This record gives sequence, C-alpha cells and structure tokens, in this order.
Amino acid sequence: MAKKVVLAYSGGLDTSVAIKWIKEKYNMDVIALCIDVGNESDFTAVQQKALKVGAIKSLVKDAKETFVNHFVFPALQADAIYEGQYPLATALARPLIAKLLVDTALEEGASAVAHGCTGKGNDQVRFDVSVNALAPNLKIIAPAREWGMTREQTINYAQQHDIPVPITVASPYSIDENLWGRSIECGVLEDPWTEPPEEVYAWTSSPSEAPDKPGYVEIGFEKGIPVALDGQKMDGISLIRQLHELAGMHGVGRIDHLENRLVGIKSREIYEAPAGVVLFQAHQALEAMVLSKDQLRFKQKIVPEYADLIYNGLWFSAMHQDLAAYVKSSQRFVTGTVRVKLLKGKSTVVGRQSPVSLYSHSLATYDKGDVFDQSAAPGFIHIWGLSVKTQAQVQGISNPEANS
Ligand code: ARG
Repeated sequence: MAKKVVLAYSGGLDTSVAIKWIKEKYNMDVIALCIDVGNESDFTAVQQKALKVGAIKSLVKDAKETFVNHFVFPALQADAIYEGQYPLATALARPLIAKLLVDTALEEGASAVAHGCTGKGNDQVRFDVSVNALAPNLKIIAPAREWGMTREQTINYAQQHDIPVPITVASPYSIDENLWGRSIECGVLEDPWTEPPEEVYAWTSSPSEAPDKPGYVEIGFEKGIPVALDGQKMDGISLIRQLHELAGMHGVGRIDHLENRLVGIKSREIYEAPAGVVLFQAHQALEAMVLSKDQLRFKQKIVPEYADLIYNGLWFSAMHQDLAAYVKSSQRFVTGTVRVKLLKGKSTVVGRQSPVSLYSHSLATYDKGDVFDQSAAPGFIHIWGLSVKTQAQVQGISNPEANS
C-alpha cells in the first residue's frame, strides 16, 4: 500500500497540481485537507475538485472559531502588528493550519504532510517550523519549492494532466484571504513606486468614493477581547464580519507596506484589514485608559517582540508561551467601550469609557472640583530635579553645539 500524505489544499492551481505531482514523484496517496479560516470560497466545490484531481480523500475542517479565539484575539490583546503596519492575518493562520495538518496526519496514519508554499516566502517557514515542533517524525513535502516549474510550466502541467486551471490564474496577483484580512502581492505591486490599482481591493471602498457622512461604532471590550458592537453582544466571528462591512464601506483598512521578510527579501505588500485596523486602534485607546504608565511602557516594548515572533513562525515556541502569559495578565482590566469615527478612509477614536478607568476628572480638571494639591508640586519637583541640579553645579552644562 502506498504511503499517505496530508496536503493543505486551497483549490488553487499550485495545490491542485501538487496532488498529481506528489503521486508521480513520491508515489504517495494524497489526502486533501482544506481549512476554513473564513476565506469565503465554496468549500464543497473545493472538496470535489481535490477528488477529481486525484486525492484519495478530501476533508474540509471549519477552524474559524479556533482561529478567532485562539489566534486572532490573543494577537489583538498583544497589540501585535508587524513593523507597525501588518495585522498578521496570513501569519496567524499558518500555525493553526499546521496544527490541523498534523492532527489529520496522525488520525489518518499518514507519514507526511505537504503545503503549497514556494521557497521564497515566510509561509514555508511558519509551516515547517510548526510541523517540526508538533510532530518531528512527519516528513514535509513542499512541491512548489521542489518542482522548479515557472508559473507557465505549472499551467502546462495542469493542462497536460487534465487539472482544471482556475480563472483566477489570469489575475496577476497572489492573494491570501481569511477572516482577519486579505494579503495581496505580485503583478504591478512589485513596483513600490506604483500606486496599487483599485482592482486589488475587495473589502474596502475607495476613500474618495466613501460616504461624506461619518459612521460611528462603539466597541465593547471585556478583558481585552471585543464582545459587543453598539451595545449588542456578539461572537467574535460575527463581530469581525460586521466591522469589516462597516469600516470597509468607509474606506478604512487599506495598508501599503514595504515589508522585511524573514528570508531576507524586502517585499511590497498590500493588506486589507478593516476590522483589524479599527479593533487595534480601539483596543490601544482602552489600554491607555486602564493600564498604568509603567504597564503601557512595558507593553510597548514587548509588542514588536510578539509581532516578530508570530511573523517569523515561532508560534509554538516557549518564548511565545511566556509572552502570552504576560499579555493575558495585562488584560485583566481592559474592559470598557470605545467609540470610533469612520470617515473617508480614516478611523479615529473619539471616545472611551470604562468601569475601571484610571482617568480621574477631579485630578485632571482645571475647573471647579479640582482635588489635585498644587502646593505639593514644588516639593516633588525639588526632589525630582535634585540630581540634575547637583550634577549641573559640579560639572556644568555643556553646550551641545560646542561638542561638535
Ligand atoms: N507577507 C505576508 C506574510 O508573510 C503575506 C503573505 C501572503 N501570501 C500570499 N500567498 N499572498 O504574512
């Protein structure tokens, strides 16, 4: 009996060709596994296609809830945005897909897993590192990294083997989509000087075409997790989808980033993440109200670490566990509501409130009701500035211009 391999299947050209190619090259039986992380395609059609192309079994697993609750929301609590721009939609889905590949391989008695990544991107790293951490005995096959075919040759191979070539192949863009965002690359986008054509966007209106009247939304958080929109409680999937609609309509959520890949390449990436953009902003605004200055400063230090770790495929590392424990603890009081205004491509936080707010009106106000004891200020300043004064008296203050 031929050995079995579980392939992460998308229904696209590369993974369809991979089913045939693996059979020819490795003589292994392919079990196709399609993971639903909110990429709205027709999963029954995808499932059928895998069988038609030659998979011995074709599975679809709905992982949306796990994706939102165990990957997306913890990253939101961490404020994890790569290089200050990318909400990590693609990067967050990879370790989850890797986990489900491994689980399925064990269930099906397969000796290998396979994915459709090329050898130039981050996704291969995320899959391989995750699979190796979870099940080091499984072999990893990456056909698109191994076969050395150009796009043209892959299409030829498909035609020769009776594999339907999707019409999307005509599109010059490489698109990865899930519930948290869309990632678009290739085609004219490879010229960093060229403005992205309107056609690359699917979830957001052009800001110039967006309504002239602002939209408002109130986002309710509990312990750093968004749980309500405009006072209405809802599950994470519905909340994200509803926010995509609303923010997208106002042209909010477009990101154009020249990014540093782990494999040493700079690449121009376009992202659409309407809900992500709004939720990160709102979450940070609420943290500003309920966390102390020290907590905020420290969190800002670990944000880039956390985002890098996700981007670089280290989801299943011990370091991640440690950082996640800190982040979870930091969210104990991140409860409250944030009001966001959406207008012509821009989202702005215009209000925030919390039952555990550290903002004290009677301390902050310059009006009636002020309880801040101003007479204590000179004593505080005396001690605060003591070391500066002492040093200046002994050593003088050098004129910065004289130093050059
Ligand atoms: N640059 C992003 C990342 O590494 C997105 C990759 C998108 N992949 C794709 N096939 N378009 O996470």
